[in-house]
Amino acid sequence: MTAPNSVYGGKLALVTGSRRGVGRLIAEHVLDHGGRVVGFGRGESTIEHPEYHHVQVDIADPAAVQRAFAEVKQVGDALHIVVNNAAVLTSQYSMIMPPAAAAGMVNTNLLGAFMVSREAAKLMRRSKWGRIINISSMAVGLEPIGDSLYAATKAGLTTMGNVMAKELAPLNITVNTLAISAIATDMLAQLPQDKIGEVVAGLPLPRYAEPDDIFNVLDFFASERSSYITAQTIYLGGVN
Ligand SMILES: NC(=O)c1ccc[n+]([C@@H]2O[C@H](COP(=O)([O-])OP(=O)(O)OC[C@H]3O[C@@H](n4cnc5c(N)ncnc54)[C@H](OP(=O)(O)O)[C@@H]3O)[C@@H](O)[C@H]2O)c1
Repeated sequence: MTAPNSVYGGKLALVTGSRRGVGRLIAEHVLDHGGRVVGFGRGESTIEHPEYHHVQVDIADPAAVQRAFAEVKQVGDALHIVVNNAAVLTSQYSMIMPPAAAAGMVNTNLLGAFMVSREAAKLMRRSKWGRIINISSMAVGLEPIGDSLYAATKAGLTTMGNVMAKELAPLNITVNTLAISAIATDMLAQLPQDKIGEVVAGLPLPRYAEPDDIFNVLDFFASERSSYITAQTIYLGGVN
């Protein structure tokens, strides 16, 4: 473990989609810096750490999310940080997008994040302290052909987060959005790599994201010092 830092030391963080990809990186980052983590995922845990607790849950199912929070309450009296990271991406032209895939994206990427945020806020209000961080995408700014609904769910996170930021401000809970650019994960691997390469080459900062690019903004939003930062969206790579 790296030395505990002031951001995560003594804090309990909930990370959705912690079994792999960006969610796993974030969960391990928090654990490495002295925090405790509850991870949500549909499958079994892939992280072994004394301060990690895994809850198997499909966040697209609102009733299942409510049941999962009964387990979160057993892990700690207070929940401090939530990272709404879990998402699915089914890239298709609108006219051929299967309805079930369309519903899956809305139910996971937007409704799932909403349910997790509202249940988390009910816990955070007990200690009048909280940080909700939504993971969005460069797709919002780039509006790529074939990504209509995925991009819309991610744009929806900003709108949802900005309204929740106002609702939760009296409880000292901030809500911010981190829109990330392309980073090597299972999600990225399912896309045509030549097309992604072109998109990355066209970014103002034309490179793939590294884990530390994500941790940098995550740490900023999660910090005690960011109590006056809410309803903000930061894009990596210069997208806007
Ligand atoms: N990778 C990129 O280039 C990129 C770019 C921009 C934005 N993003 C965003 O970054 C975040 C992470 O993406 P990633 O690339 O790490 O994706 P990924 O490799 O596909 O991983 C997605 C994670 O979400 C979980 N998940 C999906 N549906 C779920 C559900 N219904 N309930 C619970 N967990 C669920 C998966 O867990 P299980 O399937 O194991 O349950 C998995 O751990 C997403 O919000 C994505 O939109 C990624």
